[in-house]
Amino acid sequence: MSRTYIMLKPDAIQRKLAGKIIERIESKGYVITQIKVMQLEPAVLKEHYAHISDKPFYPALESYMMSGPVWGMIVEGENAVQGMRQIMGATKFEEALAGTIRGDFATSTTKNVIHGSDSEENAEIEIKRFFG
Ligand code: TYD
Ligand code: MG
Repeated sequence: MSRTYIMLKPDAIQRKLAGKIIERIESKGYVITQIKVMQLEPAVLKEHYAHISDKPFYPALESYMMSGPVWGMIVEGENAVQGMRQIMGATKFEEALAGTIRGDFATSTTKNVIHGSDSEENAEIEIKRFFG
């Protein structure tokens, strides 16, 4: 059993995809143990995206991530960090395969509907960041 931090990004909420995405998470056997609706601010985004905050695409990413509420979630289950990354699909728009959440719903590399922690260590950091 492990847990991960998942976030439905503003486009997922605006496009009313939350139900469809959550259905995939639950169908895979994962359990959502906490969920929180948040409007993100620049400071927390800069922290969350510190590994890419100096990239040329960062300003566009920041304004997208602030374009509406997100749903932060703690997701638990067998190998949750890696398993969720698998059902989410690749970061790059052109690499996200059909059948994955991003492959089926993302409209660009930036507007890719979902975040998931990339390691057990980062999962705990991100859970602390968004749930305290
Ligand atoms: P990253 O942590 O590399 O990807 P992932 O979300 O798969 O862990 O990047 C964070 C987000 O930044 C990513 O979900 C979408 C955005 N992004 C871009 O807009 N353009 C890019 O070229 C990259 C690499 C990421
Ligand atoms: Mg990442």
